[in-house]
Amino acid sequence: MTEYKIALVGFGGVNRGFAQLVADHNAEWKVALGFSVRIVGVTDLFLGSIVDKDGLDAKQLVALPTEKGAFAQLPGGNAEAFNETVIKHSGADIIAEATFTNPVDGEPATTFCRWALESGIHVVTTNKGPVALHGAELKALARRNNVAFEYEGAVMSGTPVIRLARQALAGSNILGFEGILNGTSNYVLTQMKNGLTFNEAVTQAQQLGYAEADPSADVEGFDVRLKVVILANELLDARLNVSDVTCSGISNITAQDIAQATADGASWKLIGCAERDVQGSVRASVEARLLPGTHPLAGIGGAINAVSFHSELLGAVTVSGPGAGRIETAFALLSDIVAIHTVYGK
Ligand code: HSE
Repeated sequence: MTEYKIALVGFGGVNRGFAQLVADHNAEWKVALGFSVRIVGVTDLFLGSIVDKDGLDAKQLVALPTEKGAFAQLPGGNAEAFNETVIKHSGADIIAEATFTNPVDGEPATTFCRWALESGIHVVTTNKGPVALHGAELKALARRNNVAFEYEGAVMSGTPVIRLARQALAGSNILGFEGILNGTSNYVLTQMKNGLTFNEAVTQAQQLGYAEADPSADVEGFDVRLKVVILANELLDARLNVSDVTCSGISNITAQDIAQATADGASWKLIGCAERDVQGSVRASVEARLLPGTHPLAGIGGAINAVSFHSELLGAVTVSGPGAGRIETAFALLSDIVAIHTVYGK
């Protein structure tokens, strides 16, 4: 029976959610998935770090208080985040990287991914920064070291998008996609339709945990722009940088705009899209669009995300599901580990 030794880098909602999955489901994974997981290290800039090659108690990790230096409260734990030690020297086969998204340079997450890949350790991440800004370099680094770099959770959390397109739609010739890729902005638009003001709806999205620390990343389209770069580079073989994607958000949409759209049977949606033209170049954008009621994305309400792939052989194929949430995003890490097991675990 394969047992994967995992080190968790960043211990906010997502990796805490992953520890919860391990605590609740590790025994059934042995039967259902053919492997189990042992958490051998955790590091977090705020909480500190801990290593135990014999395995940490996942339940105890989940119960750790969110206090500065809290890992020092556990036997063998430390108030300091020894990131390099945990990544390179905890004995991990796989690093689960779920630190904050830095949209400017992808750091420190990109450095964490490089350390692991250079050391011959697989990386699974839910972090948009390293993938959108340094994806090609990190994929090449993984290939050179014969390890995996998997990032299903960077777009639409655990809802399968990247692997669905890469594997199940392989050969269908994907020409483009359009998506609702930000739960907060879709929630805000939906709640405005229900009568809330823009600011009331944003506050609710923050309370529900959908919004980024700075919700302007959600409502001005910056979060979607990173996801569009990831999908375009992955599915359309593009080489887009963030600055190649034109970007505007939903903050200019008024209550009157929403009411008029509703009266017309249409819906405002923040759409991230990319398309390959006949010359082979890829154009991508993020903008609010008025969708007719017949559009496959028009009925997607609340914090739900969806993406509609346009392919030569199938036409439009649309998948919808959660795009955020701690357990939903932690599931993406599990799906990445399943993918690694399929290739490397036999
Ligand atoms: N703030 C993001 C959203 C979280 O609202 O969709 C997932 O990237």
